Amino acid sequence: MLESLAFALAGAAVTLGGDAQRGAAIAASRSSGLCVLCHAMPGANPLQSGTLAPSLDGVGVRLTRAQLRERLLAPERFNPQTLMPSYGRSEGFERVALARRGQPLLDAQQIEDVVEWLAGLK
Ligand code: HEC
Repeated sequence: MLESLAFALAGAAVTLGGDAQRGAAIAASRSSGLCVLCHAMPGANPLQSGTLAPSLDGVGVRLTRAQLRERLLAPERFNPQTLMPSYGRSEGFERVALARRGQPLLDAQQIEDVVEWLAGLK
C-alpha cells in the first residue's frame, strides 16, 4: 500500500512539480503541515518552533529530493519508533475527526511543494 503510494507519488512528482514557496507555507502552518511543531526551520520564529526533532536548516545539502520525499512518506523506515507522522498514509490512524477520515495528512501536490522547499534549504 505504502509502496504503491510512494510509487504513484514519485510518478506524480514528474508531472506535478513542487512550488517551494507553497511548501514553506505548508511547513510553517499550524493547521496543515505542522512541521514547525517539532522542527526548527529557517523562516520560523525559534521561540515558537518545536525542539523534538532536528532543525531542518541545511537539510537540502544532506538529503536528495528522493530521500526527502521518503522522509515524508515513510519516516518509520529510518526509525521505526519515530515521532514523525507519515504524511502520505491515509489508513491506520485511530480516532480521526470525521471530516479527515481516509485522507492523507498532505496530498501529492503538497508533498512535492514541501520537498521542493526542503531541497532549497542549503
Ligand atoms: C511530531 C513531530 C514531527 C513532525 C510534526 C514532523 N517531524 Fe520531521 N522529524 C521528526 C523527528 C523526531 C525526526 C528525526 C528522525 C527520527 O525520528 O529519528 C524527523 C526527521 C525529519 C527529517 C530528516 C532530517 C535529517 O536531518 O535527517 C526531515 C527532512 C523532516 N523530518 C521533515 C519534516 C517535514 C517537512 C515535516 C512537516 C511536513 C515534519 N518533518 C514534521 C519529527 C517530526
